[in-house]
Amino acid sequence: MSKRILMVCLGNICRSPLAHGIMAAISPNSFVDSAGTGSYHIGSPPDPRSIQVAQDNGVDIRHQSARKFQSADFMEFDHIFVMDRQNYRDVIAKANNQNDIDKVELLCEAAGMGMRAVPDPYYGGKKGFEEVFTLVKTACQRIVKQWIEIDE
Ligand code: 4NP
Repeated sequence: MSKRILMVCLGNICRSPLAHGIMAAISPNSFVDSAGTGSYHIGSPPDPRSIQVAQDNGVDIRHQSARKFQSADFMEFDHIFVMDRQNYRDVIAKANNQNDIDKVELLCEAAGMGMRAVPDPYYGGKKGFEEVFTLVKTACQRIVKQWIEIDE
């Protein structure tokens, strides 16, 4: 199974880099990238707390660099997974047509885990990053399992 998957959050330094690294590890044949809807952290590596929790779980995200989501991403990706509802609104605002809109889903909702958001851990402590890692890993595993079952 090979997909083109974009993970999107606000800053592209905390949540989406984890989602990017986790999905790339789970689905090695897919092309996975991440982006942020905001501009503040363009060019920055992931937050040190995201790098640490990833490393503690055997995922290396140190090479990543934050970039901004752009309209052209709709052409480059099959699935655009957003972390929360504000991300959803910001991404949809750049859509060119209904086909673009159809590519955008809340990560947890796509995983059949309800309409919940991946909470922004930026202003919290280490525990918040660990919770994000666990939630995102569960969601990514469920999404990939769904795809495998559809292909069978
Ligand atoms: P992220 O977290 O969207 O998961 O990367 C944030 C990172 C930075 C900021 C907000 C959220 N910020 O306001 O700078």
